[in-house]
Amino acid sequence: MFPTVRMRRLRELKLLKETRVSTDDLILPVFIDENIEGETKKPIDSMPGQYRFSIEGAVKEVSEARSLGIKSVLLFGIPRKKDETGSEAFNTEGVIQRAVRKLKEEVENVVIITDLCLCEYTTHGHCGLVDVDAGSGHVLNDPTLEVLGKIAVSQAEAGADIVAPSGMMDGMVKAIRENLDDDSFTDTAIMSYAAKYNSALYGPFREAADSGYQFGDRSGYQMDVSNAREALREVELDIEEAADIVMVKPAIFYLDIISKVRARFDVPLAAYSVSGEYSMIAAASEKGYLDRGEIVMEGLTAIKRAGADLIITYFAKEVAKALSCCI
Ligand code: PBG
Ligand code: ZN
Repeated sequence: MFPTVRMRRLRELKLLKETRVSTDDLILPVFIDENIEGETKKPIDSMPGQYRFSIEGAVKEVSEARSLGIKSVLLFGIPRKKDETGSEAFNTEGVIQRAVRKLKEEVENVVIITDLCLCEYTTHGHCGLVDVDAGSGHVLNDPTLEVLGKIAVSQAEAGADIVAPSGMMDGMVKAIRENLDDDSFTDTAIMSYAAKYNSALYGPFREAADSGYQFGDRSGYQMDVSNAREALREVELDIEEAADIVMVKPAIFYLDIISKVRARFDVPLAAYSVSGEYSMIAAASEKGYLDRGEIVMEGLTAIKRAGADLIITYFAKEVAKALSCCI
């Protein structure tokens, strides 16, 4: 007891850190826009400092990330053509398929993760096929699974190392695993957006990826913000369906979920620090209300401390730079 026990003795020495964020933990999201011609990138207004890239621009961006020590990138595609069923998503000549092939050719040793969803590819912007007859915009689960399977195979064929289904359809991991295995892509891994909440923090992303919906909302498939037990059930099911990595999304408002998943399951766990987390920090630090470098590290450390193994973050490059300068 005090005064013999004194916590400040060691604290003053700054010797102990229970949690360390490392560049190895970081995954950089990259938006690749088929509509960009004649230049390599275009700024995203809702995410100051972030860009959409042409395929050529993405090669530069990913090479730069690699040279900073970042091992892995998560690719989102913005196609030139959208339709009711999102058929561009499984076109062998689609933007993501071409980008993955090019990146595999041009960048050494990069782990490529492809977002696997329909919302960037459908005219209505929902993450699955929509029952137009019902007029309600209800997203159909089982017919969507077939399409997800096709997209997974086309992404694996292009060279994706990991596919990341983000649409919160029931049975998506199982359907994708079966399709991949049937086509002998037994080594392609699945990172499932297992507990993805219906969060207002995705606002800036919808401009970034041009994936806003035309009607309704995503509450019929994404999780209610109020629910924690349900997240454990979602994660459990995805593990049973053979997800290699499970994800919690968003991250900083959902540290309790990350921590509960970590405590319950011994599987690799990713956390997605989403666009709204990025933009809040970017805006507040632009105004001088917060110190950008410090707040970013504090946020990432908190995510790691909660139990995430991998962190998907738009800050990946600047964090990698900061970490390499001061080790
Ligand atoms: C869509 C998707 C979203 C994000 C990743 N994939 C948005 C949504 O569900 O509306 C959000 C990422 C971010 O906000 O950074 N399947
Ligand atoms: Zn989607």
